[in-house]
Amino acid sequence: MDDQIKKPRAYWHPVALSKSLKRAKPLRIMLGGMAYALFRTTAGGIGCVKDICPHRFARFSEGKVVGGEVQCPYHGCKFNAQGRCTEIPVHNGEVPNRFVKNLAAREQDGLIYVTDDKDSAGEPHQLKWDDQPYVRRIIENKVGTSLVNVAENVLDPTHTLFVHKGLMRGLTDKTSRVTIDVNGNQERIDIKFSGEDVQNGIVSRLLEGKRSYSTGSFELPGIVEIEYWANGKMKLANTLMFSKIDENTTRGFAVLTAPRQFGLGFVKAAVFIPLLKHIIKQDRVMMDMSHENWEANGRPNRAMSPTDFVRPNIEAIMSGITPPAAINPVRIVYEL
Ligand code: FES
Ligand SMILES: [Fe+2]
Repeated sequence: MDDQIKKPRAYWHPVALSKSLKRAKPLRIMLGGMAYALFRTTAGGIGCVKDICPHRFARFSEGKVVGGEVQCPYHGCKFNAQGRCTEIPVHNGEVPNRFVKNLAAREQDGLIYVTDDKDSAGEPHQLKWDDQPYVRRIIENKVGTSLVNVAENVLDPTHTLFVHKGLMRGLTDKTSRVTIDVNGNQERIDIKFSGEDVQNGIVSRLLEGKRSYSTGSFELPGIVEIEYWANGKMKLANTLMFSKIDENTTRGFAVLTAPRQFGLGFVKAAVFIPLLKHIIKQDRVMMDMSHENWEANGRPNRAMSPTDFVRPNIEAIMSGITPPAAINPVRIVYEL
């Protein structure tokens, strides 16, 4: 009976910036409430083992990387990327079979990804862009709330009028009639925002120019993509890749891609990065506060509002259920 139940496919989870993993020092990361130690192998790969030595349970991440293997700080046993013990100091003779659980790890686009089943995980998420030369930057962040809450925040247009007033929307009294189309399939939702020539905030004024439309999407294991398009070209893509540190803490990498435009792209990136960091901080403060307040009040049920068109879709996808927008695509018009 059991083998008829199809195992859900695995995914690559982004866990660290490439540049934060040094040659000689393992790096402790958390994923789904478990701690792992990442390290660089001599062959140019990445090792990822549970951050607990099976001998007396020291943390590998407090040890060293020696010859592409991780060395425990307590008695110096070494383990390779497959999780096998390769050396027991002082002992001369064969090394007994000792293993620590390992994950597959790889490096792509400046990030390190891990998975517990690389055969079913396929490839890590491919970053999209059209054919123009581009500038790309990555910002790392951590929020004290669930992945669903964070993904919802990024795709929810209504909070921008309050949390990011002036920066993203609501700079002046002028609003736009924005048409929002939501549809999807079993694994993702797609949202298209049209009718907003210029978003009424400092960010768009400084960086964007006239816009034709923007899109937002959510897919597993926690990827939100936001794209701004004008005249058939992508003006800015913001790919947010989230992974669960634990149920109530989420790690996010914002990967920003913009046209290079004869060097102007670098200037824009230099302006946009501090602005985006500020926007992320505004969101983080709001989400941390709301989560704390939810815990402090005995985790009450949330009141859903008619404007909450994003959350039911994200929740469904996260639970492996077809999202409502895939069954009934919706069109909403808001003054934003
Ligand atoms: S605890 Fe790791 S080698 Fe002893
Ligand atoms: Fe926000």
